[in-house]
Amino acid sequence: MTVSLTAQAAPADEISAYITKSTKAAWDVVGLPAGTPLKPIRKVGVLGAGTMGGGISMNFANVGIAVTIVEIQQAALDRGLGVIRKNYQNSADKGRFPQEEVGVRMGLLTGSLDRADLADCDLIIEAVFEDMGVKKEIFADLDRICKQGAILATNTSYLDINEIASVTKRPQDVIGLHFFSPANVMKLLEIVRGKHTSDAVVATSMDLAKKINKVAALAGVCPGFIGNRMLARRGQAAGYLLQAGAMPWDIDAAFNKFGFKMGPYQMSDLAGLDIGWKPGAKTANPLRDMICERTPRRGQKSGAGYYDYDAARNGTPSPEVEAIVKEYQANSGVPARKVSHDVTWLNGYGFPQDKGGPMFLGDKVGAKRVLEVVERVSKVVPEIKVSNLLRKLAAEGGKFADLPAQPIKV
Ligand SMILES: NC(=O)c1ccc[n+]([C@@H]2O[C@H](COP(=O)([O-])OP(=O)(O)OC[C@H]3O[C@@H](n4cnc5c(N)ncnc54)[C@H](O)[C@@H]3O)[C@@H](O)[C@H]2O)c1
Repeated sequence: MTVSLTAQAAPADEISAYITKSTKAAWDVVGLPAGTPLKPIRKVGVLGAGTMGGGISMNFANVGIAVTIVEIQQAALDRGLGVIRKNYQNSADKGRFPQEEVGVRMGLLTGSLDRADLADCDLIIEAVFEDMGVKKEIFADLDRICKQGAILATNTSYLDINEIASVTKRPQDVIGLHFFSPANVMKLLEIVRGKHTSDAVVATSMDLAKKINKVAALAGVCPGFIGNRMLARRGQAAGYLLQAGAMPWDIDAAFNKFGFKMGPYQMSDLAGLDIGWKPGAKTANPLRDMICERTPRRGQKSGAGYYDYDAARNGTPSPEVEAIVKEYQANSGVPARKVSHDVTWLNGYGFPQDKGGPMFLGDKVGAKRVLEVVERVSKVVPEIKVSNLLRKLAAEGGKFADLPAQPIKV
């Protein structure tokens, strides 16, 4: 399938004005009363020192806020703090801040194996395994341990925040703070408002996002919230291309050519192949299940994922994965065909800035052309459906940029 969506390059100032306008609009929360009182956040607790917990903690230490990081195992805590120190050291060596800052920032981080140490935190962010049972046990305990008025946040990628909040006696204080990997680098912070989350907790979270130099996007509770919901469709489309004969690195190459720093398989290697997987699992991503079941490949953190990695984390296509992909393709029942590199999808992370974002690009090519492309893709990828709004815009010649902001549904 070749689906090309290209537009004439727009002038840089037009793109930058559009990005500024849309970023500004994301801060205006429809329905949040002006002057909602903010809660002071002086001390933060983070549960889990893994891929996300470490990066999340850095965001606060970077702006002088003390963080207590709680783990279940000493080895995981040591590893997590070691990664943070290495990251800070790399930044100092590159001249991003003075050498003594490494010690200052590390001095703001306290490791612990005891949840009771979170008792005096104003905000606690849970970043442990993506498992509802584990998260519920933690939130019930946080409800018992944490001081009244503390914000109890989860970094869950997909789980129902209302269900997590239901095990506490203070669902008004529970919210999703969904960081993106690497959490100390990526600008986006999805703030996920639950059914009972108070205005003060939403307003404080939006304000905090600014303080830690993030761009906030408020979401309601739904599977995958905003980013991962879009990403799921992209993943499904990539999955169909794999079945039809493309290799993961062919698909990534198309994304790289379009301007994304990472394609879906490069990103999966960064995030970890085992997110949402456990032994015996049959998920919506059967190739990933096969790789995790048969090999210790878990992405960059294990030195191997879809790609093989050297010590500097440079990836090269893996012959072991190629053999598994070929077996997967042979069993998929989808006739093999040549898949062109010229394939782009509308939505995703790290959308190239010089293309202005999916909506900007959509307006550049026009809603009519977007409709044609989405209709074509939806014939191959049944999970992708054409929205009524897109049909309406195409019929009326409307623009994505002119769509009014909507209150989120909770
Ligand atoms: N990796 C990503 O790209 C990404 C992005 C956004 C959100 N998330 C979400 O963040 C959460 C964490 O993901 P991750 O990739 O950092 O996982 P990870 O496996 O890298 O780290 C999880 C850490 O939690 C620790 N842990 C487990 N149970 C614990 C407990 N009861 N108390 C304290 N620590 C405990 C583990 O020892 C481990 O170090 C998940 O909910 C995931 O869905 C992940």
